[in-house]
Amino acid sequence: MADHSKRDKGLSRRSFLRSASAGAAAAAAACSTTSKNKPKSGKGATTAAAQRDAVIGPQGVALELEVNGAKRTVTVETRTTLAEALRGALDLTGTKVACDRGACGACTVLLDGAPVCSCLTLAVDAAGRRVQTVEGLAAGDKLSPLQQAFVECDATQCGYCTPGMLMSCKGLLDRNPRPSEAEVRAAVAGNLCRCGTYPHVFAAVARVGASKAKG
Ligand code: FES
Ligand code: FES
Repeated sequence: MADHSKRDKGLSRRSFLRSASAGAAAAAAACSTTSKNKPKSGKGATTAAAQRDAVIGPQGVALELEVNGAKRTVTVETRTTLAEALRGALDLTGTKVACDRGACGACTVLLDGAPVCSCLTLAVDAAGRRVQTVEGLAAGDKLSPLQQAFVECDATQCGYCTPGMLMSCKGLLDRNPRPSEAEVRAAVAGNLCRCGTYPHVFAAVARVGASKAKG
């Protein structure tokens, strides 16, 4: 049987994020070179390789994020997750962190319209992309139709999973305004609710879908 003990000891969440940060930094540098007339050989190639291998951090880097339609600038370390940047630097604490390891979906936000676990997404990877959080659903005091349906269908109990559940459902409804129950089940498969509100969540999404069908 393979002995994974050494490897497991060496792979902490911190080391994973460090290596992911380095990869993201390298990718960002590589992308920046493709937007210019990148020489393919000689001295230019050496310079391009040096840029690609450049390391950003570990001190803070300034990032521009588009959060709920507004441009926001944050200065964070490269290892900072999107969840940490939202909750800490931007004080958007509606996004919850429960497991902090991609297992529960409580931290789900939309990135360019697609649901992601913000605890597993680095803030640097969200730079220049559209981030939508639960705070962006309501218009002032007026709940969005999906939030209203959650209330009316009793789709929330302790509420800890609710922001992530809402964002997964919003992502689904944005791309499929009248999903079947099977499609709702698939959309929230990564959102764990220990209070067992799933049937109420399915009913809430169905209610929004039905109201869209009426026009
Ligand atoms: S807190 Fe991100 S998946 Fe659980
Ligand atoms: S409402 Fe409590 S975990 Fe879902």
